[in-house]
Amino acid sequence: MTVIAIDGPAASGKGTLARKLAAHFDYAHLDTGALYRAVGLSVLRAGGRTDNEADAVAAAGKVAEVDLTDPELRTESTGAAASKVAAIPAVRQILLDYQRDFAAHPPGGKAGAVLDGRDIGTVICPEADHKIFITADVETRAKRRFLEIFGEDGAPDEYEIILAELRERDERDMNRSAAPLKPAEDAHLLDTTNSDIEAVFQKALSLING
Ligand code: DC
Repeated sequence: MTVIAIDGPAASGKGTLARKLAAHFDYAHLDTGALYRAVGLSVLRAGGRTDNEADAVAAAGKVAEVDLTDPELRTESTGAAASKVAAIPAVRQILLDYQRDFAAHPPGGKAGAVLDGRDIGTVICPEADHKIFITADVETRAKRRFLEIFGEDGAPDEYEIILAELRERDERDMNRSAAPLKPAEDAHLLDTTNSDIEAVFQKALSLING
């Protein structure tokens, strides 16, 4: 069983890299952010508060019932809700077994798994075969997210809003006490500020193939 751990901040390109690696090696892929997003969205839909432990724990217990293809999961407001519930240790604990089980027994009988998130190399799979910590300047990440949402026609105000939201999310994800976002000591750091996804993919492949 081979496990590849990809961690990094919001909009760093870790999801795209993880999907490309999983397709290349024919491994299963788990977007762990989607689990936290599902919990955050459920709390909002139930009219609860994302910083309330009881509300968040109740939603985490039912995470398997959420449709992980719901487009509402991808919005920045769901991302912010995810980041808030993710700071609650009891929520992280509930999602831990699911993630570890996925890595140990990848669905579809695959020979390996690629997990992307914030704490895969540090907490979920500290024994992962390969660990990559992917990052980019916050302005570059905001610009990419902005182009993804609005294309070339977005208003400068929209860019500023995205930048502020990413800064706020980075701050919360890096400074929480439970499993904060940080590179594992044995992770390879990949800065994608000046590289496109294909270059990042090739670099990751060369790290993995040694
Ligand atoms: O990767 P993403 O933007 O979909 O993640 C949404 C939020 O979920 C992120 O801001 C923090 C939280 N998260 C986490 O705490 N641990 C993970 N392994 C993945 C995501």
